[in-house]
Amino acid sequence: MTDDRTSLHATDAPEDGWFPQSVAAGYDDGEDSGAAASAVDFLAALADGGPALELAVGTGRIALPLAGRGVPVTGIDLSRAMVARLRAKPGGAELPVTIGDMTTTVVEGAGTFTLAYLVYNTINNLTTQDAQVDAFRNAAAHLAPGGRFVVEVGVPELRRLPPGQEAVIFGLSGERVAFDRYEDLTRQRFSSHYVTVGADGRGSHRSIPFRYVWPAELDLMARLAGMRLEQRYEDWERAPFTSESGSHVSVYGLP
Ligand SMILES: C[S@@+](CC[C@H](N)C(=O)[O-])C[C@H]1O[C@@H](n2cnc3c(N)ncnc32)[C@H](O)[C@@H]1O
Repeated sequence: MTDDRTSLHATDAPEDGWFPQSVAAGYDDGEDSGAAASAVDFLAALADGGPALELAVGTGRIALPLAGRGVPVTGIDLSRAMVARLRAKPGGAELPVTIGDMTTTVVEGAGTFTLAYLVYNTINNLTTQDAQVDAFRNAAAHLAPGGRFVVEVGVPELRRLPPGQEAVIFGLSGERVAFDRYEDLTRQRFSSHYVTVGADGRGSHRSIPFRYVWPAELDLMARLAGMRLEQRYEDWERAPFTSESGSHVSVYGLP
């Protein structure tokens, strides 16, 4: 299997990256609004009423309810198709969003945000260490002094990989198998694959490339960007982060 985009649909625009129309259309299906509500509570408390910037805002899953709590939210995203979904939701037309790369795009109000955040494993969408460092730098460049940058991402699952095995299944049903394939441990590259076989026997395969990143590595990226780790939890409910935690919510502060 390869990382090519053979599953792009005719209406998909290549500039929308890995989140074109065919993906954006179903992105919010099966959304866990409870998890989003906890994230919004957490972020609203940290924003402290100040303006917030969401890197990779997507369909506004977090940005719109956060804005509904009175926090002025601005977004950046690469995909016009994802942002079109955001625009179609209540409040979505008013939310300022810039189409661009989160590692380089500078929005109005840079230097005044009390909060920037990058959630839902989306730092993994940046597939090189340099790009991930640049996301930290760009987030820091948007913060006011004392501002916070929040990252939510999974802990790499390498403990599930015995020597010689390169794939981990994370979803299995009658007609669908979903798995992560760790193709390059030297560059921390992996990809998620979704293989579906319909009742007619016809199949489809979609894959998306990622770079996994360790918590301690993120802390160094923050240091490179002039920030320090202030808090780390297992989840948005502030459960303690331990050796067994599968993900983390980390809060970095700009002095
Ligand atoms: C998993 S979705 C997350 C969306 C939203 N943050 C959420 O929590 O629902 C990933 C998003 O990242 C965007 N994205 C990926 N790479 C990007 C980049 N380099 N710059 C800006 N956006 C990017 C995609 O277009 C997509 O909307």
